[in-house]
Amino acid sequence: MTFNLGGKFEINRIGYGAMQLTGKGAFGEIQDQENAINLLQTAISSGVNFIDTAEAYGPHTNEILIKKALYPYKEDLVIATKGGLFRPGPFQWKYNGNPDFIRKNIESSLERLQIESIILWQLHRIDPEVPIKKTLEPVLDAVNTGKIKFVGLSEVSIDQLKAVEEILPIVSVQNLYNLSIRKWEDMVDYTASRNIAFIPWHPLHSGKLSLSEKIRDIAIAHDATVYQIALAWLLKRSYNIILIPGTKSLTHLIENLKSADIRLSDSEFTEISKAMY
Ligand SMILES: NC(=O)c1ccc[n+]([C@@H]2O[C@H](COP(=O)([O-])OP(=O)(O)OC[C@H]3O[C@@H](n4cnc5c(N)ncnc54)[C@H](OP(=O)(O)O)[C@@H]3O)[C@@H](O)[C@H]2O)c1
Repeated sequence: MTFNLGGKFEINRIGYGAMQLTGKGAFGEIQDQENAINLLQTAISSGVNFIDTAEAYGPHTNEILIKKALYPYKEDLVIATKGGLFRPGPFQWKYNGNPDFIRKNIESSLERLQIESIILWQLHRIDPEVPIKKTLEPVLDAVNTGKIKFVGLSEVSIDQLKAVEEILPIVSVQNLYNLSIRKWEDMVDYTASRNIAFIPWHPLHSGKLSLSEKIRDIAIAHDATVYQIALAWLLKRSYNIILIPGTKSLTHLIENLKSADIRLSDSEFTEISKAMY
């Protein structure tokens, strides 16, 4: 089960979101480094070839950890990072679309990950205070010099996506979407129609999915957990969805990967869709 990112990179549709591997409030280092390294290495040896991170996770510590755990990288590994958010403290995220900040984000991600080119660099948020053309100047430079191969956006509307595409090509959109939060249904369909990857963040609603009895019954029928059903539902929702569930648990990591084996029938899919809407 793969998606071809940018027509160049064959991605297994269940990847890994690394944000959980930081301190409280996504700030500072994760306490149990050994477990985090083991988790990242197990993800890769179990077939994950897409890891989502960001300059802002830690900040910096998440990219440093990924390098520590996985360098030298497997040839097919895509590390997708992001820039454009400033972190004053735990749980705090501030827009910063200033071109100098963005340029530094890109350069420092390259350094920390010890790579010559970022396969997927995502603009974490569009800063409403800075014209998007200005924010994207250093991104365009990095694309032109080969420091970035492909560009993605996060938490954008279709109109914003279209506006950015007038400046440079976009291969992915990462918006909040899961069984419980379905605000971006139109974006899932629009990106699918354009062969752009849709990467739902919080695919498990941060582990707080409010699930109906119907979904529990379907999970029992598949000998699966409701979390696995939530991921299987996303996989069936659209061919262009790449999953980045986050976890600190090896057991959950393996469970999440196994959700690729669950085949929901069309009627189960419809029931689940309705149950949560
Ligand atoms: N673009 C953005 O603005 C943005 C924002 C937030 C996140 N993200 C990305 O999205 C990724 C995923 O988000 P997330 O980690 O915050 O939320 P999530 O994947 O929706 O949920 C993670 C939570 O679910 C639990 N969990 C995972 N697998 C489970 C399983 N099989 N059974 C039971 N519980 C399970 C985890 O706990 P355990 O540790 O106990 O498994 C954790 O608390 C992040 O790593 C990050 O890369 C992007």
